[in-house]
Amino acid sequence: MPDVKAAKLLELDKVTKVFRIGSILFGKKMTAIDQVSLSIDAGKPVILSIVGESGCGKSTLCKMILRVYKPDRGEIHLDGHNYADRRHYNADQFRLNVQPIFQNPYESFSSRKPVDSYLYNTALRLGIAKSRAEADAVVDQALKDVGLSLATVKGKYSAQFSGGELQRVSIARALITKPRLIIADEPVAAIDASMKMNIVNLFKELKDKYQVSFIYITHDLSTAYYVSDYIATLYRGVLVEYGPAKEIMDSPAHPYTELLMNAIPRVGDKWREDIALPDLESKEYMQTACKFANRCAYATDECRRETPSFEELGGERRVLCFHPLIGKKA
Ligand SMILES: Nc1ncnc2c1ncn2[C@@H]1O[C@H](COP(=O)(O)OP(=O)(O)OP(=O)(O)O)[C@@H](O)[C@H]1O
Ligand SMILES: [Mg+2]
Repeated sequence: MPDVKAAKLLELDKVTKVFRIGSILFGKKMTAIDQVSLSIDAGKPVILSIVGESGCGKSTLCKMILRVYKPDRGEIHLDGHNYADRRHYNADQFRLNVQPIFQNPYESFSSRKPVDSYLYNTALRLGIAKSRAEADAVVDQALKDVGLSLATVKGKYSAQFSGGELQRVSIARALITKPRLIIADEPVAAIDASMKMNIVNLFKELKDKYQVSFIYITHDLSTAYYVSDYIATLYRGVLVEYGPAKEIMDSPAHPYTELLMNAIPRVGDKWREDIALPDLESKEYMQTACKFANRCAYATDECRRETPSFEELGGERRVLCFHPLIGKKA
């Protein structure tokens, strides 16, 4: 019996990733992603932002969705097919459906090859275009959809572009396969501040035009604010809050989301690259009670002793907290 679930584009069910740090004999285990469950519906494209400070497991989660890492526990389904079910896995088909965009566009393109060659390669190798002439049209269209064109890009090398322009080229490359899902891991972190919103707004346009969903990974909420349909907050590998973006922005339910929200720069303030939070302590990863309790302004003895479970707040919202900042909706 094939393991098929319907109506979801992507579904993560209690996904866990454990890293071993140090030697086999004396090393420790670290749970980088701890039983994360999330899903994206198949019907309507969305931008799901995953937010959280450095080291909370965002890239590890992405790599599992991109099949770079295998989860140690839990399951991932794409279009109803379980990643663990190898009979349905076809690497080329997966590349057509799911495309990555990385943080540093200069690392995505070799400095010795013109950048358009990557776009042609994607179009020709994955069978989107049958000939060079067909590929010209496909590549030009993808570039136009990100505000560039083949005429302006052709023959140029990565060093001849600004970071923002080159990130547009990598988005164009991702679009060539007409993917259902784009995984963008910190796509604007290395981009000039004035260009960040430009790139992120492009995701919003492309979501409708290409009917593609995005998982947008960021450690700052200021860009997520404008484009997200849903927000998931990760803390020390644990999903602590999930729900519609506007509702979470207006009234976060988890004290950690509130802390992140308070760190959003106000209009006119200088852009802050990072939210200043204490260094990661691996013992926090290990503890079974609420992992945020030590830093939480509202923590009680219960929070330091017991493991919280998800509370449904209504309207697709859920929070992993004993004392959510908002109550249940009627
Ligand atoms: N291959 C690996 N081996 C061992 N530990 C790892 C590995 N990859 C990540 N980690 C650890 O797992 C935790 C989560 O890392 P991850 O890179 O997923 O965080 P992140 O949220 O993407 O951080 P950043 O915002 O800095 O990119 C960190 O403590 C990291 O040191
Ligand atoms: Mg990362």
